[in-house]
Amino acid sequence: MGPQGSGKGTQAEKLSVQLNIPAFGMGQLLRDEIASGSELGEKFDAILKRGELVSDEDAAQMLKRRLAKPDTQNGYILDGYPRNLSQFAAFDFDTPTHVLVIDVPREESLKRLGGRLTCRACGKVGALKDGIKPGDQCTCGGEWYQRDDDTPAAIERRLAIYEKDTSPVIEKYGELVRHVDGLGSVEEVFQRIIKVIE
Ligand code: AP5
Repeated sequence: MGPQGSGKGTQAEKLSVQLNIPAFGMGQLLRDEIASGSELGEKFDAILKRGELVSDEDAAQMLKRRLAKPDTQNGYILDGYPRNLSQFAAFDFDTPTHVLVIDVPREESLKRLGGRLTCRACGKVGALKDGIKPGDQCTCGGEWYQRDDDTPAAIERRLAIYEKDTSPVIEKYGELVRHVDGLGSVEEVFQRIIKVIE
């Protein structure tokens, strides 16, 4: 967990390699559904562009569909769920072993999201500062693009929802929660996460 741009997706991907278990973000599952061109995806598209949350029912359905895949048998890293108290209550079919919260100040969120690039094909996250630009090719062959919800208005809305709806979820997880400072290089933050998990 953590505010927008704290590096959840970036760190989940690294941790997935380290622990050899899959990582998936609710946001990416929704973007994949949009990319599929389905009717459900069309509905999600408008909601994500506004920076709002999809319905709790739709989020739960997307999660259950992903968890049904056999690669989650030995565990998984979940990014972006649950994001409010009703999702917390609905997530009663599994118990997390660790709840990590990556903390960054608001200015850092805004700075990072302004320069973020995402691969349209594999969902990998990068940044303009890494020397890539929209339209360049990712190593998977997909195209780097700027997410539709990385506009100033949508970022503001997402941060406000995080404060209001997601912060109470962190309180609910109580003693399971470990906070990690999200400032510093990707590698520095990753080492803090490994230390906390160990
Ligand atoms: P989602 O895709 O989950 O977006 P988010 O929560 O807004 O989080 P971000 O992806 O913006 O940030 P991140 O922390 O993953 O940062 P990242 O690693 O990319 O959700 C999108 C939307 O889907 C929601 O708004 C909502 O509409 C919907 N949704 C999702 N979950 C839902 C749910 N449960 N219920 C209902 N609706 C839901 O890094 C950001 C940038 O910073 C990158 O460019 C990266 O390269 C860079 N960076 C990372 N670490 C560092 C570092 N240490 N130093 C410098 N730069 C760094």
